Amino acid sequence: AADLPDSARGRRTKVVVLGAGTAGLTAAYELGKAGYDCHVLEARDRPGGRAKTIRRGDRLTDTDGVTQVCRFDDGLYFNAGPARIPNHHVTLDYCRELGVEIEALVNANAESLYYHENTSTTDYGPLASTPVTHRQAKADVYGYVSELLAQAADQGALAAVLSSDDVDRLVSFAESLGGLTGGRYVGNSRRGYVDAPGAGHDAGVVGTPPSMSAVLQSEFGTRFAFEFGFDQAMMMWQPVGGMDRISAALADAVGGRRRITYEAPVTQISNTGDGVRVSYRSNGRVRTIEADYCISTIPPMVLKDIPSNFSQATKDALTVPTAANTGKIGLQYGRRWWEEDDKIFGGITATNMDISGIWYPSSGFLGRKGVVVGYYSGAYTDLSVPERAARAVAQGVKIHGTKYRDELDTSFSVAWPKEPYSLGGWVSWPGGRGAAYDHLLRPDGNVYFAGDHLSYLIAWQAGAFESARQVVTDLHQRVAATA
Ligand code: PHE
Repeated sequence: AADLPDSARGRRTKVVVLGAGTAGLTAAYELGKAGYDCHVLEARDRPGGRAKTIRRGDRLTDTDGVTQVCRFDDGLYFNAGPARIPNHHVTLDYCRELGVEIEALVNANAESLYYHENTSTTDYGPLASTPVTHRQAKADVYGYVSELLAQAADQGALAAVLSSDDVDRLVSFAESLGGLTGGRYVGNSRRGYVDAPGAGHDAGVVGTPPSMSAVLQSEFGTRFAFEFGFDQAMMMWQPVGGMDRISAALADAVGGRRRITYEAPVTQISNTGDGVRVSYRSNGRVRTIEADYCISTIPPMVLKDIPSNFSQATKDALTVPTAANTGKIGLQYGRRWWEEDDKIFGGITATNMDISGIWYPSSGFLGRKGVVVGYYSGAYTDLSVPERAARAVAQGVKIHGTKYRDELDTSFSVAWPKEPYSLGGWVSWPGGRGAAYDHLLRPDGNVYFAGDHLSYLIAWQAGAFESARQVVTDLHQRVAATA
């Protein structure tokens, strides 16, 4: 992904990068390849920012002062931030360039479940509070909808818009999509068996589908479009060993501790006229670094409270984006019951409960233990750590039964709005990307801003990569023009 030509001017230009998350490391990496003299200041004791993989021994203290220590077994982990990478994101090009091995992230799985329980406003009918496999829901929904389509076409309802040949073609399509028998949906093996086929004369028994009304009332069909999403469709990917393998590789490529100072929270940012001066805390002292340029990848929610001599317009712009409330819990089980009992190998169960989903691990298949992600939701942020686990487990029990509670070893939860130096999972731009967004795409003096919040790929590492690449390109052009 190298972009900038090595330049003599770059070699005389010093850039201080604020933040060793994906955006900051990418900026330092690309500028470094072009010969720039970069130094990265990172508030935390590690690279990666929100691209955080939770493992044994990890210790997080949230903004309430609550500390958790991860007690997972060695080798088990979950990705608390970004967890899936689509084929077309530049993230994969960086994995290739940096030698980060990837494996499939199972984002859609016929064996994972849908589960809708009734709410005060919605009655889901006979399938309410019943876990149904994606395969069964798809067979039944597509089956009945196809039957209706074939009927409508046969009865001439589409004669005004389709030629009779096209009506025939549409009916063939509906028969194929729905697996219809004589124009009717009566169930078929796509939905699975109540008694599996086997040897000799054991043909198996296919279950009888619920009624068309029951299937429509379940509203499972409203969930199918998730996997049609441009950035959610299989194949999806993850680094082998955890999402933080990417930032670890970037940090190495940048030069490691020679170029990155950890535990160095920024306390002041000043444009000095011909450069920048950044103050930071390190080992209990305030230190200062001077550079020609600065690239700040500090999230706006954090940056807005750091003293600076930015213009009022910049300060105002930094207050505009709002923090998204989200978090995850990792639940370690002593047995991979989802594989052993339920034949679920990766994928996500989707529910209307506030856990939103259950992610089964896409690595360690057929192993002994594993970590399931028990919620991906903002609804848990304000609960205590034990309350988060208890609430998530109670919902999982409704889907998977009491083993979901009884076989739990240990858990660890991350609430991004309460993570120091992040203060949110990502941002949203109220009313869309307006003047404040435009403002932050341009430098304030010699200080540039980068991060996924300054992209059309918010809440993706690709947004951080793309934004960083844009900013170093802008900066390089300026250096080339002025030197
Ligand atoms: N990238 C995150 C995810 O895949 C958040 C996100 C979800 C972003 C859906 C866009 C669309 O979970």
